[in-house]
Amino acid sequence: MARLWTLLALLGAAVSAPLECPLPDGPDSADEATCGLYSACVWEQGGCQLADRVGYQLLEPPLVIHTLYELLLGRRDSEITMFGDDVERLTVTAVEYDDNRMALTYRDTDAARYEVPVELDVPPLPTPPPSDPQYAITLTATEAGQTFGVQSGDQFIEATFLLGAADLYGFGENNHDSFRHDLEAGVTWPIFANGHMPGDEIENSYGVHPFFLGIEDDPGSSFGVLILNSNAMEYRLFLLDGVPALTYRTTGGILDLYLFFGDSPLEVLQQYHRTIGLPVMPPYWGLGFQLCRWGYKSVQDIRDVRQRMKAAQIPQDVQWADIDYMNGSRDFTIDPVNFKDLPDFISELHEEGIRFVPIYDPTIAADFGIYGPADRGVEQDVFVGWLNSSLVPENQCEGCKDYIVAKERTSAPGLFPNFFANRTLQWWIDEIRRFIAVAGGPDGFWIDVNEPAAINTNAKGGLQCPHTPLDYPPYPTRFVRFAFNPSGTVADHTICMASVHEADLDGATTSYYHYDVHSLYGWSESRATRAAVRATMAGRRSLILSRSTFVGAGRWATHWTGDNTARWSDMKRSVVGILEFSMFGFPHVGADICGFGGDTSEHLCLRWMQLGAFYPFSRNHNAIENIDQDPAVWPSVAAAARDALGLRYRLLPYLYTLFWRASEMGETVTRPLAFQFPSDPTLRGVDTQFLWGDAVMVAPILDEASMTFVHVTFPAGQWWDLRSGALAYDADHSGGVLYQVALDEMIPVFGRGGAAVPTQRNATTTAASRANPFSLAVFGSQATGMLFWDDGETTDTFKDGSFYHCLFHFSDNTLDIQVTHNDTQWMPDPTLSEISFYGVPSEPSSVSADGVPLPADSVVYEPATGLLTVHTQLGMEADHRVVLNY
Ligand code: NOJ
Repeated sequence: MARLWTLLALLGAAVSAPLECPLPDGPDSADEATCGLYSACVWEQGGCQLADRVGYQLLEPPLVIHTLYELLLGRRDSEITMFGDDVERLTVTAVEYDDNRMALTYRDTDAARYEVPVELDVPPLPTPPPSDPQYAITLTATEAGQTFGVQSGDQFIEATFLLGAADLYGFGENNHDSFRHDLEAGVTWPIFANGHMPGDEIENSYGVHPFFLGIEDDPGSSFGVLILNSNAMEYRLFLLDGVPALTYRTTGGILDLYLFFGDSPLEVLQQYHRTIGLPVMPPYWGLGFQLCRWGYKSVQDIRDVRQRMKAAQIPQDVQWADIDYMNGSRDFTIDPVNFKDLPDFISELHEEGIRFVPIYDPTIAADFGIYGPADRGVEQDVFVGWLNSSLVPENQCEGCKDYIVAKERTSAPGLFPNFFANRTLQWWIDEIRRFIAVAGGPDGFWIDVNEPAAINTNAKGGLQCPHTPLDYPPYPTRFVRFAFNPSGTVADHTICMASVHEADLDGATTSYYHYDVHSLYGWSESRATRAAVRATMAGRRSLILSRSTFVGAGRWATHWTGDNTARWSDMKRSVVGILEFSMFGFPHVGADICGFGGDTSEHLCLRWMQLGAFYPFSRNHNAIENIDQDPAVWPSVAAAARDALGLRYRLLPYLYTLFWRASEMGETVTRPLAFQFPSDPTLRGVDTQFLWGDAVMVAPILDEASMTFVHVTFPAGQWWDLRSGALAYDADHSGGVLYQVALDEMIPVFGRGGAAVPTQRNATTTAASRANPFSLAVFGSQATGMLFWDDGETTDTFKDGSFYHCLFHFSDNTLDIQVTHNDTQWMPDPTLSEISFYGVPSEPSSVSADGVPLPADSVVYEPATGLLTVHTQLGMEADHRVVLNY
């Protein structure tokens, strides 16, 4: 029978703790006089609280049509207001989509408002009634009638919802220090795309993901909530007394909630990912190790690093180039002096089986006459414009028309492509095509600073935004009140909100205020760049790395967590970032290994290379002027990188299979223990370890104070140490084990009893490792697993059927390999050359493959660990049975 989960929209008076008034200068500014300025607020118990009469009440009996509920609400007291311009009537609709999903939407009954133009995959209405709903919609009347703690004005909406769970995860992009939100009451986090380097304050950073998940009870029943809104917003989980609740505030749009329910967190995430769009399948090489830095001085400089990597035999699949390669930091140009032989270098890399990915900034330098992309851009009218010509500053650059102009990096002022318009898409594709023709084929696209970032806006020397309500809204959110927002304005570090994007979406042309779609800039650039990949790269997957992201952009792009600092605390926080983006539908995510800002140290870089070897997107990147930190710099780090990346490369067939499952089924690749084992409440707060799928657990060293040991938490079950082959844990409850890990030792990585994990002998590139035979690791006396395999390069292989897939099943000493699909015309049939059985209690008398005993020297048993290694030569095009005979 389905569970009942009730989302309560409530009135201030009904909650256990008072709700704070949203004072524009923050709660610390509260005094009686300030509080008295707002009729919606009352000064009580030394605080400024929302008045009881704030909110809406039911005007008519609810309308229930099939699976749709409609409620008409009116203000409880039209005399009181926070910022004026209140919406008088609200229409609330609740829609049951299916057993796991429903929506709850609050719209202005009398006027259309901006709604986020991101399409979700939900069934068209009317939907058939859910057969076994995991939720129930209940309409509860209170004495005062149906009441809702919602405030809705033109530029301000606030709602408080009680939540049925205290274990809460998600919301971003924020620099959370813990994965599970801590119960500390009263922390309000802002969300709004911003390009500032993340620090230690309560900050919003590059992307916007108003999605969170709660685990409700011990069995792990869970819910997820997406608030589809793109305006500057803020949230707080937990009331002042610690009661789990969401207080949500946004500065525009509508309240548009999508609710997901499931028996486990992973089921909820799967529902969520299917709804927002399944993540893009990365190319196989995108799972290899990648090296970058800002501050390469020349092509020769990169060649030298590459040589160093080769000499140290450290795996590398991708070489990146930052803005250094450009001429004057202009997109689609090459520095004619220091990087003039970049095209030759790209060919050299390709010959070695290495890929090359350069950076692109969105800003286009207004260097008319000498810079084609700018000239053609103006000709084709591709840039973001001012709201109206009266706002164009007097000192507008020549030829810059009515476009908004701001500085990012180039010496010339910059124009901002409006990626919402079809003509911009065409221009972007065309510029990319031209660059590919000149440079000879970059393999991917690093789209940076697309919040979009601009320098000194509303500060000295920068763009000044006019005083309109768009740039100076009545409630600018917590974002404006932090040290990293020096101008104290919404447009800090970006372009003015009073600018306009013409948009061609769904075949219609419309226009949006930047105010509304600011946080969609990276989303729109990712979409445009994916269109360019399709148009220019003839069926290749490529790789798009975007700094700013929004709900659903995982369909097109990979993400990295941006400009971290070379500190142990940032390394630790990176695990939280990766787990959160995995929730947001970005399985391919990583942090700058060894730290971006500041000089790293040998020990930090060593432990970070070991952790980073298990980031799904594994890239070492460094800021200009910092010491070199590629892993070949220190012999100790080189050795650690060889070992950790060696294991990564061995596990790539498994990792790749997980990515296939993510892109086809919406599963996650990296997982917190709490999501995989939700019925164990003691695991809910573990965020210093993570899993790849359900089979591999990584326990990195994250603290300087414990640089040579780690306390590992094991979920119930059997776990084998991949370093030694020995059984590490075996219990029907979770527990902890302390591991000493000397600096020259690998961090612990474990295989879960019950899993069969396909692997491949490692090499220093995936081009080489993919040509090696496969192996299989079987953990415990009963295990299952699978392998997905294709050319690793072209799009839609699964849809087109050009792939290989098999299942592994081990029980009763019998391993069955069952081929379920095999269309491998594009490659030689895969071979299985080694099977490792972990936890074999005694040596078998013989091992047979398909009924034929294998020669004795093909079977090696280690009594100390119980690891049995069997050497085979099995063509994987056919089914096989391998039996351990006793
Ligand atoms: C900001 C990016 O976050 C960083 O990774 C890059 O190195 C710099 N821009 C320079 O392009």
